Amino acid sequence: MTDLILDCDTGIDDSLAILYGAGNGAHYVACTVTHGNVPVHVGARNTLTILDRAGLPDVPVHQGAARPMAQPLMTAEWVHGQDGLGDTGLTPSPRTPAGTLAAAEIVRLARERPGELTLVAVGPLTNLGIALLLEPRLPELVRRVVIMGGAAGVPGNASETGEANVWHDPEAAQLVVDAPWDVVLVGLEITMTTQLSPASVARIEASEDPRAQLVWRLIQHYLDVYEPILGERTCVLHDPLAMALALDPELATYRLVRAGVELRGERTRGQLVADLRGFDPAPTDPREPGVIRIVATLDTAEFHERFLRALGA
Ligand code: RIB
Ligand code: CA
Repeated sequence: MTDLILDCDTGIDDSLAILYGAGNGAHYVACTVTHGNVPVHVGARNTLTILDRAGLPDVPVHQGAARPMAQPLMTAEWVHGQDGLGDTGLTPSPRTPAGTLAAAEIVRLARERPGELTLVAVGPLTNLGIALLLEPRLPELVRRVVIMGGAAGVPGNASETGEANVWHDPEAAQLVVDAPWDVVLVGLEITMTTQLSPASVARIEASEDPRAQLVWRLIQHYLDVYEPILGERTCVLHDPLAMALALDPELATYRLVRAGVELRGERTRGQLVADLRGFDPAPTDPREPGVIRIVATLDTAEFHERFLRALGA
């Protein structure tokens, strides 16, 4: 089991990540929630609901940042539905978020269990940025950090150059990239290669397992969004991939690159600018500020199989 804190903006693929983790050895010490796909209170409600459906009613959920550090709140209901769960109308969990706010809980847990906890972030990085401001030692206190974010050398999705989680709070993302930790950024350059095959989608549809049936309901809205993009009725698995690589890093190989977040570009604010040129001496210290790990290769078939097995599909 991997003891982890999941920071999320629970929408559809965040929900898939929670279910992936539940079926692949994640022990959720806590979930923390940020603005992003939906307003933070909706994300918190959704996180509680999905955890209950995953058979994890005891996992505490801590609400966090309601807006980015230096720009107005923007949300993405067009991708995730007005309710953030594909407008499935799932009965919300009766539970309410815990009293401690997200960033404070991340710091408290990291101090309480130094070197033990893996931090998985699959939403805008505002909570992580605040936690770094509260506790500059955080990089020494966490065991691993895996983030779904950025678009290294490929187009964005929230803008021409910005991937949503970085684009929704560039200042927070810069704090995360500059922190002296060994951080893996699982960006669109690899998540957009995780398109489920029609046969895999059919396995989810055909399964009698309640987890697969929940996912089948959740992804209908997502399939509607991705069908015109991908040219067939399927979807990609952004957040589940970050969860997968947090739990089983050996599913991929990695590359150290220098990177930064564009904060002032008129058209490029929110872009993760990664130096992919490869002719400078490659960075060797993953904890060097401004150095991140990106995924070089991925065993996509094994990732898909573990995803489907986690659903009983
Ligand atoms: O760019 C994809 C990311 O933005 C995913 O985490 C999705 O849930 C949204 O938050
Ligand atoms: Ca997300």
